[in-house]
Amino acid sequence: MVTQQNEIHPHAERNGSKSKASPMTTNVQELLDLIVEYASRPLEEAQLLPSEYYTSHDLYDLEVERIFKKDWLYLCRTDEIENPGDWFAAEIAGEPVVLVRGKDMQIRAFSRVCPHRFMDLLFEEREKGAEAGNTESFVCPYHSWAFNTEGQLTGAPLMTGSTLFERERACGSYNLATYATEVWNGFVFMNFDPNAEPLAPRFSEMDALLAPYRLDEWKMLDRLDWPEVPTTWKLAMDNGREAYHHQGAHKESIEPLWPAHLVDADTTESEFFYYQRMFVSQEGATGEEDGHYLQPLALPSIDGLSAFQRSHSLLVGIYPTMWFSPGPDVLLVAKWWPTGPDSHKFDLAVCVHESKMDHPDLGKIRGEMKDWLRQIQEEDSAMVTGIQGMLKSDQARQGGALSPLERPIWTFQKYMAKRLTGIDV
Ligand code: FES
Ligand SMILES: [Fe+2]
Repeated sequence: MVTQQNEIHPHAERNGSKSKASPMTTNVQELLDLIVEYASRPLEEAQLLPSEYYTSHDLYDLEVERIFKKDWLYLCRTDEIENPGDWFAAEIAGEPVVLVRGKDMQIRAFSRVCPHRFMDLLFEEREKGAEAGNTESFVCPYHSWAFNTEGQLTGAPLMTGSTLFERERACGSYNLATYATEVWNGFVFMNFDPNAEPLAPRFSEMDALLAPYRLDEWKMLDRLDWPEVPTTWKLAMDNGREAYHHQGAHKESIEPLWPAHLVDADTTESEFFYYQRMFVSQEGATGEEDGHYLQPLALPSIDGLSAFQRSHSLLVGIYPTMWFSPGPDVLLVAKWWPTGPDSHKFDLAVCVHESKMDHPDLGKIRGEMKDWLRQIQEEDSAMVTGIQGMLKSDQARQGGALSPLERPIWTFQKYMAKRLTGIDV
């Protein structure tokens, strides 16, 4: 009878076996211990974390505190806020922020919470769905307090008579809260932590790899975004970072051109990033040069890339929530924002090198590119929402073995272990 049950329910047998993983974790400390344990294993023993890693609201609270309030977060490209007064807004783990290019051309990040009675300074713009714009000053819609693009309070009507206001204003208490920003390769990052270490040194091992692409010279053509996805950000990250699923979820779209088995993961050890090379298949190649199959291009390649560099796109993951893919002709930039423990937003920017901005085929390519990327995202979204619906099942308590092609899920476990517990694995 037992044998028969085991044959019928092999997964149940595994849950009952002497695995190092507890299938019924219930508190956050146990979950943190498990993350450290899984992240410490060699790649050959890598395993998906239990479903509670994806569903625990307590763990999510810790992620907000120790990751989103502490680490550098990618927001947008510099050319999206190119002119004085240009702003870009986002809500990051419950914090409403705005990036602004000041009159002095500096980029700054501010809280959008009005220091008077907590109104969102961009309430009306966000209600209309605007994520970017240009302004001389931010005027609060509630009582019309005004702030310049450097974050200083410049006007507060009818406050005469409040000695508290005068006293606190003189100390700068009514200027907008400012967060750290840093630009790296044309990408604008911000950090809520005033004591954050500088960003660029953590990526120095990629300097030589990325230099030929001259990433600060690329301009954003389009930003594609989607309505809030009802899945945890971590499922979306796992999916967005590995290419093993090309031969499943994308078998009709990506796989024929960039098959899963040709994606080559670099083994540089870093707690901040990983990268892979996604090579074109022989069947999908447009030619061969110096022994390398050349990948199809929507636009002519940028100058200076070798045949090897034109045989693949790079896939670069920056923890926690950014990914970008420089190719010979197109740069894709993705970010995922948690909007709660069980939901996230995703957007994807398409950039081209500044030398291609007046290419005669750009309009046509732009349309084709958008259609292609929307199709890919639909395929991905179907997978992650499908998994989210399974997470509460008794049979989803314990995750399965990871393929070496899912290496980025394993390295992300290491990031999570380090950030959530402080333990280096
Ligand atoms: S809440 Fe902004 S001016 Fe009153
Ligand atoms: Fe995908």
